[in-house]
Amino acid sequence: MAKTFLIIFGAPGSGKGTQAIRLAEKMKLPMVSTGDLLRAELDKQSPLGKIAKKYMDKGKLVPDELLAEFVIHRLKKADARNGAIFDGFPRTGEQQEFMLRRIRPALRTGGRAFAVLIDSSDRAIKARLGGRRACSCGAVYNLKTKPPKRAGICDLCGKKLYIREDDKPKVTADRLKLYHKQSEPLLDYWREEGKLIEVNGDAAIDEVWLELEGKLRVAGIL
Ligand code: AP5
Ligand code: MG
Repeated sequence: MAKTFLIIFGAPGSGKGTQAIRLAEKMKLPMVSTGDLLRAELDKQSPLGKIAKKYMDKGKLVPDELLAEFVIHRLKKADARNGAIFDGFPRTGEQQEFMLRRIRPALRTGGRAFAVLIDSSDRAIKARLGGRRACSCGAVYNLKTKPPKRAGICDLCGKKLYIREDDKPKVTADRLKLYHKQSEPLLDYWREEGKLIEVNGDAAIDEVWLELEGKLRVAGIL
């Protein structure tokens, strides 16, 4: 079967994780979230986790060379044989080059790659992130816009929810700045290729999903 790669772009808090989980389920592809993978390393207190924590808690990017091997390893798992949904990767020019090199053989043999931009305003994002509650299984909640059924407990796996270290207002502001400077320029490539699907990330969660689903259908991806 030809592989499909979907790369979800968007500022911190734009809803990448929220929509990527739905897409992964719908498309029967794994969600490869570098943020979630790194947080799992932090929890294990692995050597990579210990180094990554220093960058993540300050809202800085983890160095490219640390991520490359990590992503290759994830893509070798059996569940990625038909492709993957990337959330939060790539974020730098070097990471994008690396990713395109890795997926090129699949694209030459009938595979396809598209990017999605969840376009949210900084104002909407700042209002949201204080209320985010996360689960180690990848599920994301919000006290205002998506509360869990039982306070503090994940609907999907029953684990305790936590507040991310990098959701403090000062760190959020730095992450947003970094996104505009380092990651937003990567969209030019996808736009020029005619492979960028843009949705309004300021709308409610279900509305974003409907717009995304509709546009992916039109593009023949769903
Ligand atoms: P990562 O975990 O990827 O963080 P991020 O990109 O900053 O994005 P977020 O996870 O904060 O937001 P999201 O877009 O997923 O939004 P969510 O769905 O949660 O990365 C964390 C750190 O790891 C980085 O800062 C860096 O240090 C490191 N890292 C990761 N990848 C890296 C890479 N490739 N290179 C180098 N370093 C890397 O939604 C946010 C909240 O809003 C939730 O509460 C949600 O319920 C709510 N919500 C979502 N959509 C809506 C909506 N439409 N309306 C109202 N509320 C909504
Ligand atoms: Mg996320």
